Amino acid sequence: MTDLKPILMNDFTKEPESLVEAQFEAIKSVLKSGYYILGPKVQSFEKQWATYCGVRGAVGVANGMDAIEIGLRSLGIGPGDEVITTPLTAFATVLAIVRSGAQPVLADIDPSTAQLDIESLSRCLSPKTKAVLLVHLYGQILDPAPFQQFCSAHNLFFIEDCAQAHGAEHNGLRAGSFGALGAYSFYPTKNLGCIGDGGCIVSNHAELLEHCSVLRNYGQTERYHHPVLGLNSRLDEMQAAILSVRLNWLDQFTDRRRTIAARYFNEIENPDVEMLRKPSHPKSHVFHLFVVKASNRSDLSIHLKNRGIQTHIHYPIPVHHQHSVKEIKRDPKGLNRAELFANQCLSLPIHPQLTDDEVTRVIDAINSFQR
Ligand SMILES: Cc1ncc(COP(=O)(O)O)c(C=O)c1O
Repeated sequence: MTDLKPILMNDFTKEPESLVEAQFEAIKSVLKSGYYILGPKVQSFEKQWATYCGVRGAVGVANGMDAIEIGLRSLGIGPGDEVITTPLTAFATVLAIVRSGAQPVLADIDPSTAQLDIESLSRCLSPKTKAVLLVHLYGQILDPAPFQQFCSAHNLFFIEDCAQAHGAEHNGLRAGSFGALGAYSFYPTKNLGCIGDGGCIVSNHAELLEHCSVLRNYGQTERYHHPVLGLNSRLDEMQAAILSVRLNWLDQFTDRRRTIAARYFNEIENPDVEMLRKPSHPKSHVFHLFVVKASNRSDLSIHLKNRGIQTHIHYPIPVHHQHSVKEIKRDPKGLNRAELFANQCLSLPIHPQLTDDEVTRVIDAINSFQR
């Protein structure tokens, strides 16, 4: 055990005072405005976020899971349709597909990135397939071209789960701008987060955006008119005001995450700890998470815990091993790589408030680990 201060996966209490102050001001201004749901702060944040993502528009919703469900429904995807995605993701990705009425189909991963493997993807194709939902896992956007080509060859929608990839870029374009639409989560621990729940759909297609804004508000087109059955999934003014403030800090926080990741890549040297593939371009990864692999993961996490270092696992149970979806359709060749990965992956602290000394402590602790 250790007397050293704990190093946590997230620590909002360490955020800069000027950010804290700006958030207090933002909350005050919402209280004074008398507008609490879907008001001017939401509209203003939607514009800012669309601009940041380089897309035509954004529709704020209650959380990231709803963003996926509403996005799928806005594309007309529902009962009788299949959507291919990954078993190594937050359960919400798959639950959103189920809630849209469509059937999720799981393809295996490439273990060097933990993202969808295109060969497995093609084995999952059926006449019912309507979309591929690509998760930019851990904050990394891989070259989307092979997925876009696959989707256009098979007449499928390409949808991005951007919940972990705020600001990740490929060839100067940001996550959420490559397919029909992108779904963001603003859960507090995300790279851009609220002080509660929040989410957003981004798209370049005006009609889709319009449909999403109807669906998020009971399917209401004008007051008391409900031509479609929607949800109650509205972003509130306080979360939007907080998001606008925190957006001013996003690039700086992302830079800090990248600096920490560069140190981990350069300085972690332990034959028992395997790194994932280094991103091919620095801007393609926003390091929502920094994940390593170890065949003796539980020993490694205990070793780190004994040195005051918290770790998490993303994700310990692949989706198809969850009881509620155990019959879920999948690659006929199985999902062995996702299963092995789930047994070995370990997420290290990488939040932007980590000090250089704390990063050194994490590196030293990993390098001193012996089987
Ligand atoms: C990849 C991914 N998709 C979807 C979600 C769902 O977002 P939320 O928790 O805001 O519903 C999350 C959040 O955990 C996520 O990490």
